[in-house]
Amino acid sequence: MKHYFENDETLKSDESLIEVKIKNKKYKFKTDHGVFSKKGLDFGTRSLIESLELEEIHGNVLDFGCGYGPIGIFIKDNSSANVDMVDVNERALLLAKKNANINNVSVNIFYSDCYSNVDDKYDFIISNPPIRVGNEILYKILFDSKKHLKKNGSLIIVVNKNQGAKTIMKKLESCFSVKLLNKNKGFYIIKATNV
Ligand SMILES: C[S@@+](CC[C@H](N)C(=O)[O-])C[C@H]1O[C@@H](n2cnc3c(N)ncnc32)[C@H](O)[C@@H]1O
Repeated sequence: MKHYFENDETLKSDESLIEVKIKNKKYKFKTDHGVFSKKGLDFGTRSLIESLELEEIHGNVLDFGCGYGPIGIFIKDNSSANVDMVDVNERALLLAKKNANINNVSVNIFYSDCYSNVDDKYDFIISNPPIRVGNEILYKILFDSKKHLKKNGSLIIVVNKNQGAKTIMKKLESCFSVKLLNKNKGFYIIKATNV
């Protein structure tokens, strides 16, 4: 069994449609084998989405590691922001495109390994980051976000305390202004601003 962040062309496709209520609105998402949290909205992702101060979200937003798309699609549907969404998982990208259509939002979805295809600078980079890729890539994703954030732009992430949330917060303090936005059953929602 490969990881959800690896492309596995031999993996059988068996799409299913899930219905998810976020902040009193229903969304439909197609999911499939080989993508993150295919059975339903991940609790960490939900905690992140529900902790966002939506009236603050504006300008250009990057949903990093979009998976089948819940974060970017929700943000586009509930703010004035332009939303880009990237992932390395081709199947997830295909699903995210279908899900944007199903939920009637217009977003820009493309392949990127870390920031390899990301050229813009953003007001917000928002992510449930791939902890399982290991520390080297994880910290590259977190720290390289600075190059893609405008001044005063923020990286907003969710990390479980069992997956090193406190350590990650401490490390981010070396080059961001860091604030804990929320804590929900062990999930830390961390905002790191490029001051
Ligand atoms: C924890 S999942 C979150 C997925 C989705 N945002 C959600 O909340 O349901 C992390 C995502 O990061 C993607 N990812 C892993 N390594 C990556 C990389 N090097 N560059 C871009 N995306 C990556 C994975 O394929 C996966 O979809």
